[in-house]
Amino acid sequence: MENKIKKTGMAQLIIDGKTYDLPILSGAVGPSAIDVRALYKDTDHFTFDTGFTSTCSTESQITYIDGDKGILLYRGYPIEQLAEHSTFLETAYLLMNGELPTATQSVEFSNTITNHTMLHEQIERFFNGFRRDAHPMAMLCGTVGGLSAFYHDSLDIEDNAQRDISMHRLIAKMPTIAARAYKYSIGQPTIYPDNSLSYSENFLKMCFAVPAEKYEVNPVIADAMDKIFILHADHEQNASTSTVRLAGSSGANPYACIAAGVACLWGPSHGGANEACLKMLNEIGTVDRIPEFVARAKDRNDPFRLMGFGHRVYKNYDPRAKVMQKTCHAVLGELGIKDSPILDIAMELEKIALNDPYFVEKKLYPNVDFYSGIVLSALGFPTSMFTVLFALARTSGWISQWNEMLEDSTQRIGRPRQLYTGATARDYVPIGKR
Ligand code: SDX
Repeated sequence: MENKIKKTGMAQLIIDGKTYDLPILSGAVGPSAIDVRALYKDTDHFTFDTGFTSTCSTESQITYIDGDKGILLYRGYPIEQLAEHSTFLETAYLLMNGELPTATQSVEFSNTITNHTMLHEQIERFFNGFRRDAHPMAMLCGTVGGLSAFYHDSLDIEDNAQRDISMHRLIAKMPTIAARAYKYSIGQPTIYPDNSLSYSENFLKMCFAVPAEKYEVNPVIADAMDKIFILHADHEQNASTSTVRLAGSSGANPYACIAAGVACLWGPSHGGANEACLKMLNEIGTVDRIPEFVARAKDRNDPFRLMGFGHRVYKNYDPRAKVMQKTCHAVLGELGIKDSPILDIAMELEKIALNDPYFVEKKLYPNVDFYSGIVLSALGFPTSMFTVLFALARTSGWISQWNEMLEDSTQRIGRPRQLYTGATARDYVPIGKR
């Protein structure tokens, strides 16, 4: 990656009467940053920023979010336009390579991915070792990490060709693994990939086809699935992407890094929120119980939070949530679901929350997870599969960010420091004297 950070000014820091000049760095767009890389060496002081709310961990040219304006760009292209006009595979190509593919590049990339969709037959034993009631995210986590046991030919991260085949394998095999985990959890046989289908059509068939019947993919449903994957593909330095980068900074192989990302995404504050949100909507049960839950969300003594609401970066409506809501109506319409009580609750909850001073003051808006559970449920997925689908899509962003880190000559192993408040040095006390 060509580093494009510009030095655009100087900041001054005064410690014990001594003034330190700190460069101000700027990117193409967005807030500037104070360069503190030499701070500890020059001042013997750290910065303190739990949760990294004010910290840039890296330079990146992949995804840009303007949280105040509710803008999300993948390589400069607005998410709304990509969701409307692109496909998930084309978006994955864009994230990985920085430009939209030409027609020839698009066919080549699609063929490459298609030809890597099958799993090594030994991986079947992974699944047969899990309990049938294992959470699909647990199966995904374990299986993705285990892929490095099968691909010794592509673990050298210094070799561009091996990095490329690893990235292609991960994009190609995530749907197969995800579908396998789902089929295993419901006691149905594996449905192998069908190379005559598109990425999302193939995934839907692997999930919902059965050997006993012919399966026809509904094009409206396949289009909705593809849109949902586009919406979840990348999101700058979120928790799971930062996890992938940190794992990658040690030189770990790509399968191990993506498995680490899957594990981090699983948390209910992050990618697990879609599953938690649908559970919350079901718990609310009826529109007249919404005020009770809104009151709980506002009560500082109650740990309950409105799942699918709020975001570290978006202090405006998450643009993905708007597209997701539109997709929700399209899917329910296509499936002939005239009235969806759960959707009614979601829309009423959104209306109430967006007019409540608590949410307005704290700039809490629906995020990508608020409507996704309703759509995925309508598509036939159980809640336990929601985060698996998120991980499937986010793999394209994770590997793009991982690859960008490896191409960044300024990158070093990530190793944060701490503000230590524990016991200072003391001598051992023999047990008889304690
Ligand atoms: C994703 O980072 C990404 O980009 C993530 C993601 C991606 O694509 O990778 O966008 C995907 O993870 C979306 C977020 C999904 N999570 C949820 O929907 C879970 C519910 N949301 C919250 O847990 C929370 O909003 C977070 C975790 C998303 C953000 O937490 P922050 O940035 O640490 O904000 P905070 O916890 O400091 O909250 C600020 C204030 C607090 O009140 P005060 O202490 O200031 O009084 O807002 C309150 C919070 O209590 N608050 C909420 C709330 N979210 C924040 N109150 C009620 N309900 C909520 N959902």
